[in-house]
Amino acid sequence: MTLYDDTRHPSQPAQGPAPGDSETRIERVLFTAREIADKVEELAARIRDDYRDRPLVLVGILKGAFVFTADLVRALGVPLRVDFMAVSSYGSATQTSGIIRILKDLDRPIRDQHVLLIEDIVDTGLTLRYLRDHLQAQAPASLRACVLLDKPERRQVDVPVEYVGFTIPDEFVVGYGIDYAEQFRYLPYIACVRPDR
Ligand code: XMP
Ligand code: MG
Repeated sequence: MTLYDDTRHPSQPAQGPAPGDSETRIERVLFTAREIADKVEELAARIRDDYRDRPLVLVGILKGAFVFTADLVRALGVPLRVDFMAVSSYGSATQTSGIIRILKDLDRPIRDQHVLLIEDIVDTGLTLRYLRDHLQAQAPASLRACVLLDKPERRQVDVPVEYVGFTIPDEFVVGYGIDYAEQFRYLPYIACVRPDR
């Protein structure tokens, strides 16, 4: 398997992360850009079908879900509203503390709207639990979550995820918007890294 495949932008050089960027190394590719694009189309088809003529508000969670949200809105191809929240959790680069801080809240109210929360990854579930409670308190008409990656082995709280892209093992992943210490978000594929700790 090559790190980049034919879905990359033609102007993008076919090279891996610059050596010396970090001591953190890409270990192996989990999902190629092609596999991700196919999954996004599959999720979009399900979501379109489920919502039909109910207008949606997509709430992307920054920063990790920015690429996924951008691809999903275009795959959906229906009129909808997009908003973003930015959250951070206290803790180390690879470990959530469970204490979530809102860095940016919604721009517009979601009362009586059909809301779809877009997250990159659900791990312990603490972030998604917090976000669901935060949004539910604003009385949307409905609330569902769409998560690209699900790491069920590390779940600490039970939280519903209505749309899951891929289920992954307990490994630290990067790429397609997802970072390790703010690096690797630019990769068009999703890979496992060995953290330099
Ligand atoms: P929790 O544990 O709250 O985690 O479900 C959700 C958030 O933690 C981050 N996270 C990761 N980030 N590679 C990352 O780059 C990973 O493997 C990983 N696992 C969890 C992520 O920000 C997610 O939104
Ligand atoms: Mg995140």
